[in-house]
Amino acid sequence: MNATPGPATPRVPALSNDLPGAEHARDLPEAGYARDPLGAEHAHDLPESGHARDPLGADRARVPELMEAVSAYAVRILDGLDDRPAARVPVRPEPAPLPGAGIGLERAMEVFATRWEPGFAAGPGPRYLGFVTGGATPAALAGDWLTGTLDQNPTSGLDSLAPDLERETVTWLRDLFGLPREHEGVFVSGATMSNLAGLAIAREWLGEVRGVSVAEEGTAALGPVTVLSGSPHSSVAKALSVLGLGRSAIRRVGVLPGREAVDVDLLARELERLDRLGGAPAIVVANAGTVNTVDFDDLRAIAALRERHPFWLHVDAAFGAFAALSAGHAHLVAGLGEADSVCVDLHKWLNVPYDSAVQFTRRRNLQVRVFRNAAAYLTPLGEDPDFVHLTPENSRRLRALPAWFTLAAYGREGHAEIVRRDIDLAAGLGERIAAMPAYRLLAPVRLNVVCFTLASTPDRIDEVADAVTGSGEAFLTTTVHDGVPALRAAFSNWRTTEADVDRVAKILAEAAPRP
Ligand SMILES: Cc1ncc(COP(=O)(O)O)c(C=O)c1O
Repeated sequence: MNATPGPATPRVPALSNDLPGAEHARDLPEAGYARDPLGAEHAHDLPESGHARDPLGADRARVPELMEAVSAYAVRILDGLDDRPAARVPVRPEPAPLPGAGIGLERAMEVFATRWEPGFAAGPGPRYLGFVTGGATPAALAGDWLTGTLDQNPTSGLDSLAPDLERETVTWLRDLFGLPREHEGVFVSGATMSNLAGLAIAREWLGEVRGVSVAEEGTAALGPVTVLSGSPHSSVAKALSVLGLGRSAIRRVGVLPGREAVDVDLLARELERLDRLGGAPAIVVANAGTVNTVDFDDLRAIAALRERHPFWLHVDAAFGAFAALSAGHAHLVAGLGEADSVCVDLHKWLNVPYDSAVQFTRRRNLQVRVFRNAAAYLTPLGEDPDFVHLTPENSRRLRALPAWFTLAAYGREGHAEIVRRDIDLAAGLGERIAAMPAYRLLAPVRLNVVCFTLASTPDRIDEVADAVTGSGEAFLTTTVHDGVPALRAAFSNWRTTEADVDRVAKILAEAAPRP
């Protein structure tokens, strides 16, 4: 090995928040970025590090100090989050060819810090209010760092306690959301996968009722399937496509006047109609927190319909499940535990880094039928099947660790405080917007999202979105609600405060187009 330890203190890349885009990388002639974006040609300028000959060997000899440098760099990013532009208008850097010999971690970090990082959004920052986006609490971030450090594969319990930590975390989450013991959960990558897994189990249930196993015989054996829902999230259609049930399986049921919540009487009528057509049970996707206006279906009333009609009740509570943590809003998710399957995202309001969600179901036996993975070297199913038999993935990261850390560090109370504060902040922004003549709210602020548009020219709302993004002050996403172009400000970050709401209100006031 040619590795010779380099200088005692590795260089920590300078942060370049004020660089508007990667084109500035080309203003650094000594780095040779334009010709050689990774500066690989210049690696031989560091003779003492031995990088040119064996960058991996050189790095192996310096792991602790390199990790200190990465940590210092990460800390500087975190310290700058409040001032970093909430979003960037992407400017792509020059393409770079695959490095041949590589440039070593230290140099790679410098190139990343110049060429890519300036174009990254302050996604975990306090005024990133687009989509429904959480940040990462300190403990969650630590858990994420340690996930990569320990690099466990929780697929099976053959070699490690990692799956048991995951089981403990799932139990904590079940308690956090007030679900009954019959609900067993698994970690998946996001709410889309959670919806997909829930609907896959629902599909198997339909097969059970019709006397076939879809897992064994395929969807062709099942026949047509109807999925009833008032305002389903787009990921439900995607899941149905992947599951071979087809996007057109969704039958939209009417919503209550001026609402996104399903009209339960109309749902009952649809179920009766299906009964009359031959009694093939359906899947009902109920929504606990719609994206535009955070409306909630009446879960109890929907669950009660099962006394008259058999159906599988899947609840998409991607972020709405967190209403359970606020005494004033817990009624919105009353009945959640009666669902057959439940989707909850964690990279939203639990404030763990991407990617993390949980999927609960009462019918683990059906889940196993769908996802079991038999191989001579894997564990048998047994009483308490390993995760390899429970989710679409086989090998994967120990996704539970960031959630475990944040729940251990801040507990139910700490997370309830985040939820209550975000709800208050959303209400506060809603009041400020309602008081601005330029804007009008499109729905009451029920939980953590403010949905609004321009009072007289809604079709110009994109101009507001662009001005807000361009200012770097905040990031809000556009939508169309009930046919009206609109903006949404979604609060789910642990860092956000009143002062941020002031800044968002100010930029919105400035961004309203002059007539
Ligand atoms: C209600 C609901 N369901 C599902 C999803 C999909 O979540 P993900 O993008 O994490 O897969 C979202 C995302 O915003 C959502 O709000």
